[in-house]
Amino acid sequence: MKHWLFGYGSLIWHADFPHHERRPAAIPGWARRFWQGSHDHRGTPDSPGRVVTLVPADDTLCVGVAYQVDGAVFEHLDHREKNGYERVTVDIHLFDEGGGRRRLVPGVTYIAPPGNDAFLGPAEPDEIAAHIARSSGPSGSNADYLLELAAALEALNVEDGHVTELASRVALRRQAG
Ligand code: SIN
Repeated sequence: MKHWLFGYGSLIWHADFPHHERRPAAIPGWARRFWQGSHDHRGTPDSPGRVVTLVPADDTLCVGVAYQVDGAVFEHLDHREKNGYERVTVDIHLFDEGGGRRRLVPGVTYIAPPGNDAFLGPAEPDEIAAHIARSSGPSGSNADYLLELAAALEALNVEDGHVTELASRVALRRQAG
């Protein structure tokens, strides 16, 4: 059986799983935030990085990418997203290739809810940027995760003020050495 999977973070640009289709998509009522700790990808248990999760937000549309996948990929994805993420059922708006028309389909996404062992929660933008700038883990630097996400969203023509602000703060810190 085929399923729709919604990705809003690394799943946008790092699709290390087979899929039948990939297209821009959105889920309403959620905002992307660098509020989740990463012990296994962009940090370590002693020095976790910061990666994105979704938080409820009225009147907000979180834009990302939807993949049509076979059920077999969830074994791999559940392992990849094991650091606090849960597979949650959502309604996904699929964008048509040429424009803004949408089709609503049921699907799943991975959300790391408040209270999970790795959850870090909100902080001032400069504190989050400093945290990201100094963190790294087995999958690479935390700054690369943020900058890859910012580039992937730009390629999708998505405005996400939270991500853009953090990306410019981290880029400035990199330039300053
Ligand atoms: C996602 O990309 O949809 C989940 C969060 C992540 O793995 O970065």
